[in-house]
Parts: sequence; C-alpha cells; structure tokens
Amino acid sequence: MQRLENKTALITGAASGIGKAIAKAFANEGANVIVTDIDDAQGKDTADSIGARYEHLDVSDEADWLRIAAAIPALDVLVNNAGITGFESGEMVHDPENASLSAWRAVHAVNLDGTFLGCRYAIGAMKQKGAGSIINISSRSGLVGIPGAAAYASSKAAIRNHSKSVALYCAQNGWNIRCNSVHPAAILTPIWEPMLGDGPDRDTRMAALVADTPMKRFGMPEEVAAICVMLAGDEAAYMTGAELTLDGGLLAGSAASPGS
Ligand SMILES: NC(=O)c1ccc[n+]([C@@H]2O[C@H](COP(=O)([O-])OP(=O)(O)OC[C@H]3O[C@@H](n4cnc5c(N)ncnc54)[C@H](O)[C@@H]3O)[C@@H](O)[C@H]2O)c1
Repeated sequence: MQRLENKTALITGAASGIGKAIAKAFANEGANVIVTDIDDAQGKDTADSIGARYEHLDVSDEADWLRIAAAIPALDVLVNNAGITGFESGEMVHDPENASLSAWRAVHAVNLDGTFLGCRYAIGAMKQKGAGSIINISSRSGLVGIPGAAAYASSKAAIRNHSKSVALYCAQNGWNIRCNSVHPAAILTPIWEPMLGDGPDRDTRMAALVADTPMKRFGMPEEVAAICVMLAGDEAAYMTGAELTLDGGLLAGSAASPGS
C-alpha cells in the first residue's frame, strides 16, 4: 500500500525546486497530485512528467484561490510551498534600514498572504473530507534574523506562527485538519541562483553558504519532500502545530552562526 493512496494533494510553486520534488514524491506514494505555479510552461512539464494535473495559481492573488476552490472543492493535502526571497526581481537591497516598502510588501504578498489564502481555502476544502494535512514551507530564516533578507525572514517567521493558529483553530473546532511548518536551511534549488551567480566565484560562494552548517553541505529538495510525505500521511496523525527543521544541524548549537 502506498503511503498517500486515495489522497488529493495540491502543491503551490511546484514547477521547480522543492515543490517539484514534493510533487514527485507524492505521486510516487500514490497521491492524486495537482501541480500549481505561475510558470505555466515549467509547471505543465512537471505535471506531465508525473502524470499529474496542472493549474495556474498565483498564490498572492485571491481571485486565483477562489477559482481553485470552485474547481477543487475537496482536498486532503495542501503544501503552501511557493515562496520568493525578493532577489529574483533584481532588487538586491533587503536590509532593515534601506529596503523599499514595495520590496518588503512584494515578498510578504507571496510568502505570507499566499500562505494565509492557501490555509483559508484548505480549511474549507478539508472539512468536506473530514480530515486533512496543511504543510507550510517556512525556513530556518523564520527562526532567526537575517539582516540582508529582512522581509524574507519576517514573512517566514509569520508563516511559522500562522501555522500554529491554523492548527489550534482546527483542533478547537473538532476538525481533524492538521497544520505544521517545515523549516529547511540551504536546499540546492534555483532560488539560490541570483545569490550564487555564474563565473569562477560560484563554487567559493557555495562553500561559504554552508561553511557554518555542521553537515557542511546543502540539503537536497528530495530530503524536504520526504518529510512532507510523512506529514501528509496518516502516520503523522497526532502531529499538529509542530515545526520541523531540516538544516544539517545548523540550529542545533549556538556556535552555528546563521550568517547573513
Ligand atoms: N531552497 C532553499 O534553500 C530554501 C530554504 C528554506 C525555505 N525554502 C522555501 O521553499 C520554498 C520553495 O523554494 P525553492 O527553493 O524550491 O525555490 P524555487 O525558486 O526553485 O521555486 C519556487 C517556485 O515558486 C514559484 N512561484 C513564485 N512566485 C509565485 C507565486 N506568486 N505564486 C505561485 N508560485 C510562485 C516559482 O515559479 C517557482 O516554481 C519557498 O517557500 C522557499 O522560501 C527554500
């Protein structure tokens, strides 16, 4: 028996990186997967490669979520994975002193508003089924301050807290809808490209990014996906409001500096 058989799972930002790996892992475990993203070409490729359905979904757009709710009124698993650092747009100033309000808001619109809207949709859709699992992809940046990426860190910290509000709200209402947050540190995906760049310094920059990590390496998207399979499945039936770190030991000791 596959671990996610008979479960319908929607994953946001699933065209690439961690979301793509989660979509693959869920499909391998027998789930009926709905891949969503704003990158329709890559999203459809991902969906086709695993026999999944694709839907366009900009997580920051309430109208998109309402359309999804009408098309997919019942759901077992939602992974609020879509996220941006803010550097993708070419805006490289994200410190607390100099960041622009528009850059701050743009990051929160995707990461935090997107997760809020996703949770709101999922609660309604999971009540139809009598149970469900919401998995919110936060970050180790939601647990420590990041001076050079303040909006990203703030949005991820808020996701951590909102996950607990959702978990408590559902439990208080007697619904078997669980909500947990996942906190990866450096996972090797395209999200790092604007920071790594090309050229001869790329390897040096990569090594520097994990120099403080006790395991001295990046994590892989499949390693995050494996934890999401566990959270999505019935084996995690008593786990709600929890936060899981996947950081190669980074936050285990005070000597491990979060860097910049
Ligand atoms: N890679 C890491 O080191 C790392 C660490 C901690 C947390 N995370 C989190 O994991 C999640 C996935 O990151 P990733 O590394 O796979 O990044 P990625 O850039 O490879 O993938 C992000 C995906 O989200 C999509 N996306 C962007 N804006 C969107 C929007 N408004 N609506 C819907 N989709 C949108 C992109 O098109 C892309 O497919 C993010 O929430 C990120 O913050 C990543």
